[in-house]
Amino acid sequence: MSSISLRTITKSFGDAMVLDGVDLDIKDGKFVTLVGPSGCGKSTLLRILAGLEATDAGTVTIGKRDVTQTRPSLRNLAMVFQSYALYPHLSVAQNMLTPLLMRDLTKTQRLPVIGPLISRAKRKALTAQVDAVAQTLKITELLTRKPGQLSGGQRQRVALGRAMVRNPVAFLMDEPLSNLDAALRVHMRSELTELHRRLKTTFVYVTHDQAEALTMSDRMAVMMGGKILQFGRPDDIYRDPNSLAVARFVGSPAINTLSSEIDEQGTLTVLGESMGRFSGLSQQSVVVGIRPEHLTLSKTGRFGGMVKHRENLGSDVFLHLVVDGHADVVVVRATPAHAPALAAQVRFTMSSDHLLIFGADGQRLRAEHTTSKVAV
Ligand SMILES: Nc1ncnc2c1ncn2[C@@H]1O[C@H](COP(=O)(O)OP(=O)(O)OP(=O)(O)O)[C@@H](O)[C@H]1O
Ligand SMILES: [Mg+2]
Repeated sequence: MSSISLRTITKSFGDAMVLDGVDLDIKDGKFVTLVGPSGCGKSTLLRILAGLEATDAGTVTIGKRDVTQTRPSLRNLAMVFQSYALYPHLSVAQNMLTPLLMRDLTKTQRLPVIGPLISRAKRKALTAQVDAVAQTLKITELLTRKPGQLSGGQRQRVALGRAMVRNPVAFLMDEPLSNLDAALRVHMRSELTELHRRLKTTFVYVTHDQAEALTMSDRMAVMMGGKILQFGRPDDIYRDPNSLAVARFVGSPAINTLSSEIDEQGTLTVLGESMGRFSGLSQQSVVVGIRPEHLTLSKTGRFGGMVKHRENLGSDVFLHLVVDGHADVVVVRATPAHAPALAAQVRFTMSSDHLLIFGADGQRLRAEHTTSKVAV
């Protein structure tokens, strides 16, 4: 079993602290994504795990082995890069075979002319390994081509194949789909999750795309400013974020955030309307988060607004509403058949079950709703 454990990983480049004591435990066989905005330290963390970058402090453990000081080639991890890093002058088959030859043959066996003669059996076994992986990835008919003769998606599969032949304890992937067009990217997402299901090997996957993290992973780590803000199942992170930063980063369109007040009785007022009482909260200004799907257009709704912008996604229309007397714009999901026109006056309800309350420091305030739960 090869679980991966990162402990208080710290890294600075010059004066800039890029990783600030990161802890992460990845169970064997899981698909984990590291997700966060550009520059938050995702690639650096992955490179430290791979051994391509040294950590200033902290430890990297794979299985029971402390590999913090171990060379990348001895960690038995396979890295798949955004650029694929294929050898352009070698065929697909040779691209996949070369890392195996480097690992499994002696120096003499790798010599030209004489090498192949004295290592025939071994080479045959390794070629069979390449053929088996090619079959799994459905790239057998591409084996004789050069990378330049492949589409982006095919190149991606070859890069994966080259990683797979080595039978690594984990695959480390840094934005492997970002060079593909939108349709192919969505297709490759499902191919990768399907591949993970079959291989049952640990995947550590870096992306800045929260949709990719939500759709693909068993667990996601949301990183910002060199820290992991939250680690958990995608569903839990979406529904139950610990902080405003995580709530805002995850979900598209973004969660609505509304400046709100709690009075001395614990009554929460959002957009000028009382949302009932919450226990354990003192009088203070808070930010209330509510996802667009938890606001519903309704003629009898307590809240009113004017349609300022319509975002038509085909299956849904997201309406951006201006609410009288309030600065926050509210986004409401509507079905295309019932979506009002631009500049229309509409009314909507807010499900008080789905309100997320955040304090002035951006941390979640976990309060109990003490009045009966009603949609108002
Ligand atoms: N070798 C380096 N020397 C100096 N600064 C570096 C080096 N590598 C990374 N950085 C800086 O460290 C920070 C984190 O970089 P990193 O590549 O880990 O970000 P990232 O989260 O992968 O971002 P992206 O989504 O854009 O790939 C950035 O500010 C980057 O400029
Ligand atoms: Mg990166």
